[in-house]
Amino acid sequence: MKTKSLLPLAIVIIAASLTGCGKGGTNQSDRTANALASYVAPGEKDEYYLFYSGGHSGQVYVAGLPSLRPIITIPVFAPHPGTGYGFDDESKKMLGDFTWGDVHHPALSQTNSKYDGRWLFVNDNANNRIARIDLRDFKTHQILGPIPNSIGNHGSSFITENSEYILCATRFSVPLPKGRVADPNDYEKQFNGMVSGIKVDPQTGEMKVGWQILTPPFDWDLGSTGKGPSSGWAFWTSYNTEMAHDTLEVNASQKDRDLAAVVNWRAAEKAVADGKAEMMDGVPIIDPAKVPGILYFVPIGKSPHGMDVDPTGKWVVAGGKLSPTTTVLNFEKVQAAINDKTFEGEFRGVPILKYEAVVEGEVPVGLGPLHTQFDGKGNAYTSLFIDSAIVKWKLPPWTDAEKKDLTKAVLDKVQAHFSTGHLVVAGSDTANPYGKWLVAMNKLSAGRHVNVGPSQPESSQLIDITGDKMKMVAESYTDPEPHFAQILKVSEIQPEEVYPKDENKDPNAVWDKDATGVTRNGNQVVAKLTAIRSHFTPDRIDAQVGDDLIVHVTNIEQTRDMIHGFGLVEHNINMVMDPGETKTFHIKLTKPGVFPFYCTNFCSALHQEMQGYLVVWEPGKGPGAGGAGGGSTGGGK
Ligand code: CUA
Repeated sequence: MKTKSLLPLAIVIIAASLTGCGKGGTNQSDRTANALASYVAPGEKDEYYLFYSGGHSGQVYVAGLPSLRPIITIPVFAPHPGTGYGFDDESKKMLGDFTWGDVHHPALSQTNSKYDGRWLFVNDNANNRIARIDLRDFKTHQILGPIPNSIGNHGSSFITENSEYILCATRFSVPLPKGRVADPNDYEKQFNGMVSGIKVDPQTGEMKVGWQILTPPFDWDLGSTGKGPSSGWAFWTSYNTEMAHDTLEVNASQKDRDLAAVVNWRAAEKAVADGKAEMMDGVPIIDPAKVPGILYFVPIGKSPHGMDVDPTGKWVVAGGKLSPTTTVLNFEKVQAAINDKTFEGEFRGVPILKYEAVVEGEVPVGLGPLHTQFDGKGNAYTSLFIDSAIVKWKLPPWTDAEKKDLTKAVLDKVQAHFSTGHLVVAGSDTANPYGKWLVAMNKLSAGRHVNVGPSQPESSQLIDITGDKMKMVAESYTDPEPHFAQILKVSEIQPEEVYPKDENKDPNAVWDKDATGVTRNGNQVVAKLTAIRSHFTPDRIDAQVGDDLIVHVTNIEQTRDMIHGFGLVEHNINMVMDPGETKTFHIKLTKPGVFPFYCTNFCSALHQEMQGYLVVWEPGKGPGAGGAGGGSTGGGK
């Protein structure tokens, strides 16, 4: 019996190995090797964090590499009931009037052009904000903005080599200061863009707007910051140097070259300190036509996207979306052209560097080059949106033969199956990349996943770049919509898994039963609760219609993963308290009734029993109704 039943299976295996092919055209030995390359066995951990932007979800996603497994969502610009973000007073205040953001380019903080594991900054293209996530607890701690005089915070957030600044450039231009109205037909005269230097406190990471540089109304795109020889400089591409204000897909693609910005941010900082700025909407603004040495332009292949500085700081690579080449600038030549005034003209008082004097070469990488990353071994990797591929090519110095024919500098190409937008190589923007892995972040999922209806996911692909030839080993899907990512070695940080009781400085934290309770002061009712497996103390709050109810809940657990929620039915409240954390919400009570509250985060076998009641009496009714001021109301003590 046994032999008989195994026989057909054996035939299938032999047949498969003879054809050498598995499903989807990947041969059997590659399937095994690829699976092992990205396999992280149960109980084992990934080697890298992948922090990828969530686009218009407003959030940041964290996955592990090489498994590509999603781990958590860090809510940033949008409420996230799963972690209670946007429901308690503090996170609500950070979000302000907005319930969404458009996260594009995360940046890990750096010291000496190396990730220092302290913060992750992300931009909001839609509402002109920057957020800071602290890597001690993977939580958003500050949202700065809307930034004055800045509209369309897309060319951001690019961090300087010692996290001195987050540098941002505007995608859109409007009449400035914000609120001034002019006719878009007067776009060239009335509209302006801006480069902003957001100062980062070196101890706390607290951001504030430092200064701004006025620019023509080009649409600034991606950028990056210098290091080594280009220390103190930053670079942005632009599209729409035509300064079109309508039908941009045609009108902004007229010129063969667009102007990229070369910004001396250290000189900008000094110019402001020397009093050379004028104030607009509370921010010192530098007019580069009046203060020379701050801003230069350089022509770059048509409608470029990414502008990336290599790990040595010498080569600056621009992708020419509508030109099949990447343009490599030699920063030493840029510096020489500035010193020698090798200009080919000027635009509104800003010198345009002579193209031939600063460009090392145009590498014919393929169609639709968007964004370039580096492995620190002299190789560059560029995403090709139109070719749906990743191309590997050699940075200068090139041999004479390569210089004569730069197709020889193109080393390898791997099909991405999707339209690749951004890509990230581990540590590419540092002086010493980890290399090893490349993640392609693709637009359009091309139906390579199980059918989930018309709302399709985004896709990512993991590429091994350790060998001469790139090797795609895995693909994965994610919520919309990653635009860029940062990769950090897991061993470089030690996030805290519990907030230590000693470090909880919330004045309304309570740790003992005696300190809990509900007190009334006029129309204000304050409840201080503890949460621990598996009860709230107190588990009854009495109040009246018309009261301002303030609830502080302290999770007094000091055990990893013992998270409690506080969901209040029919009041749109879901706070979530991590171990050792105190959170607060306040609401105006408008309707009478008995409203259960309950723990929303599964915490124990008796999680379901973790509940209580908010009793909202008619005005003047209920316990403590007559007592004015300081009285105790409700049960629990
Ligand atoms: Cu506490 Cu569930």
